[in-house]
Amino acid sequence: MRYSHTETERLILRPLEIADAEHIFNTWTSDPRVTKYLTYTTHKCAEVTRQWLESVAADADNENVFEAGFQLKETGKLIGSGGAYYRSEYDRWSIGYNFAYDYWHKGYATEAARAVVDFLKAKGIKRFIAWHAVENIYSGRVMEKIGMKFDRKGTYTGCDGQVFNANFYIMDLD
Ligand SMILES: CC(C)(COP(=O)(O)OP(=O)(O)OC[C@H]1O[C@@H](n2cnc3c(N)ncnc32)[C@H](O)[C@@H]1OP(=O)(O)O)[C@@H](O)C(=O)NCCC(=O)NCCS
Repeated sequence: MRYSHTETERLILRPLEIADAEHIFNTWTSDPRVTKYLTYTTHKCAEVTRQWLESVAADADNENVFEAGFQLKETGKLIGSGGAYYRSEYDRWSIGYNFAYDYWHKGYATEAARAVVDFLKAKGIKRFIAWHAVENIYSGRVMEKIGMKFDRKGTYTGCDGQVFNANFYIMDLD
């Protein structure tokens, strides 16, 4: 999905670029603390991050995908990424986010996730879903803080086949 300028108090949401690969690899995709509950494995080299960014670029015009880099206004540096994409099995947009470890617990994920929802809301999108591993409590807090409601327990499978018990949240803006 194409961008229109979006910013929050402390962040700018901008398209991820192939040229960001080295920085993103060094800052979060190589960090097992960040990837522990995610559906991608910890990247072993910047080339893996670059390949992921190529797939993001290939989706730039895909109306069912919105992926953003979260850039800190103060330093101009990317500190995380996330977004949402349409999942037909739920008929909802699933929201996701990940941030470099050094930037956790400063309210950035809440600020960024709200901006993603507002961006999509402005496009008429009203139905959202998100889930987090039960142990990944901070992610659940982000969901609650942006107004999502607990829906049910469930599971999801990580990329290495590990099954996580998860809490599923939904939000309908109708
Ligand atoms: C989950 C994640 C995105 C949260 O990002 P964040 O920027 O730290 O989130 P926020 O600062 O907006 O905080 C959300 C809540 O978690 C709490 N929190 C976050 N980190 C914390 C920490 N280290 N210790 C205690 N509380 C913490 C915040 O205090 C806040 O809760 P509160 O309002 O009750 O205080 C971040 O930890 C991350 O990138 N994790 C790895 C990737 C991941 O798991 N993504 C989600 C997959 S479902």
